[in-house]
Amino acid sequence: MLSVVGRRLCSHVTRQLRGYHATSAVASDQLFVHKDTPDNNPNTPFEFTPENMKRVDDIISNYPIGHEAAAVIPVLDLAQRQEGWVSLSCMNKVAEILKMPKMRVYEVATFYTMFNRKPVGKYHIQICTTTPCMLRGSDDIKDAITRKIGIKVGETSKDEMFTFSEVECLGACVNAPMIQVNDNYYEDLKVEDVEEILDDLKAGRSPKPGPRSGRFASEPLGGLTSLTEPPKPKEFKVRDDL
Ligand code: FES
Repeated sequence: MLSVVGRRLCSHVTRQLRGYHATSAVASDQLFVHKDTPDNNPNTPFEFTPENMKRVDDIISNYPIGHEAAAVIPVLDLAQRQEGWVSLSCMNKVAEILKMPKMRVYEVATFYTMFNRKPVGKYHIQICTTTPCMLRGSDDIKDAITRKIGIKVGETSKDEMFTFSEVECLGACVNAPMIQVNDNYYEDLKVEDVEEILDDLKAGRSPKPGPRSGRFASEPLGGLTSLTEPPKPKEFKVRDDL
């Protein structure tokens, strides 16, 4: 028989799992399905700017001749930095430049959530809700963002300031829960932290990225637990005969 605490924990986790499944289905449809629209169809114009075309050549030169396709991720990323998102024409142009089948480029652009398949707002907020972040309260952070800016996962605000996406692990699990806003990570978040970050963004300020717990990076919160002694001198030997 479960204790009261056990029952509360189960019901908390179950609530989180329900929310997780409901939003991921919406997000994955948006990621994989392409339907022609007036702004995103094979005839939508896309060209790299002359300056970015030079960057494309530089990126390609990092790879051996005959393996230009290996540049697909950085070249798609450059296209996204130019346009703000990755349209069908943009993917087709990347395929043409890298001499690879269009489908190969579609596969990459639809696999990684870092590529926006639709235009996004000035600030693209991505919340990780994978297990470590979920167990550290990412659902509370997600609700706080919705309350604060009035949009749910998968939506863009009417003033095009914010787009809100739910994504899988962003590789900062030791600093869970966390969000990514454009290129910056905000970590070790509490509800008040995320509210402050959003207030700053709304006011045109640039909140400092990184952990909000006072940590510098991902070191233990309670102080060092290893490497606590000064390094041994150069002459130090584990064994006298070595
Ligand atoms: S689980 Fe959230 S960053 Fe890894």
